Amino acid sequence: MIRVAVAGAAGRMGQAVCETVEAADDTELAGRADPALDVALADVLGGADVVVDFTTPDTALANATACLEAGVHAVVGTTGFDLDALRATAEGSQANCFVAPNFAIGAVLLMQVSQAIAPHMPECEIVELHDAAGGNVHQPIHSVRLPGLVAHQEVIFGGEGQTLAIRHDSIDRRSFMPGVLLAVRKVGGLPDRFTVGLENLL
Ligand SMILES: NC(=O)c1ccc[n+]([C@@H]2O[C@H](COP(=O)([O-])OP(=O)(O)OC[C@H]3O[C@@H](n4cnc5c(N)ncnc54)[C@H](O)[C@@H]3O)[C@@H](O)[C@H]2O)c1
Repeated sequence: MIRVAVAGAAGRMGQAVCETVEAADDTELAGRADPALDVALADVLGGADVVVDFTTPDTALANATACLEAGVHAVVGTTGFDLDALRATAEGSQANCFVAPNFAIGAVLLMQVSQAIAPHMPECEIVELHDAAGGNVHQPIHSVRLPGLVAHQEVIFGGEGQTLAIRHDSIDRRSFMPGVLLAVRKVGGLPDRFTVGLENLL
């Protein structure tokens, strides 16, 4: 059994991760850390093999650093913070860190298909649409923040007399759970201390 603690356990993603970890045959929930539950990450680290972090951009780096310093593998879904600093911490540690900006397998497939299209239709625009929690806005990507959205990406290619649009919609937070579970299962065996992107696990 893989013992999994969740940071941000009272949040929307954290609650879904707790349910997923409890339901899977090979994982058990080792702790729920969240200021809203009055439980600090340090209180649950001792009983965990892996910590899954879905918190906020200003706490994710400190949380992941605490995991790695304790020899606990970290799976990080929080977006909008400095990945270079986390890479530097992970590379000197005794545990592995896996980060995915998007845990939905369909979104990873969208990126792979886009790479196949791009050499043939190099003119393209990207639109990403999230609710207010979605950080990580990169210019010149068009960004939309509205209540009701979960996570949506659209890539529109334009060529002479034609356009080609492909879009992925996460319409429910459950869309991220197979990817999170995959990362929980694989993080301990990754060849590198720091890995970014679900495509590396598929
Ligand atoms: N990578 C992905 O696929 C993916 C998918 C969805 C959301 N996200 C990202 O996940 C993050 C969380 O999203 P959400 O919608 O669940 O947000 P949320 O606001 O619902 O939940 C965040 C939770 O983190 C808790 N928290 C704050 N500081 C903490 C700390 N130091 N330790 C432990 N818990 C702490 C808060 O109390 C809150 O309960 C955001 O950055 C969002 O962009 C990533």
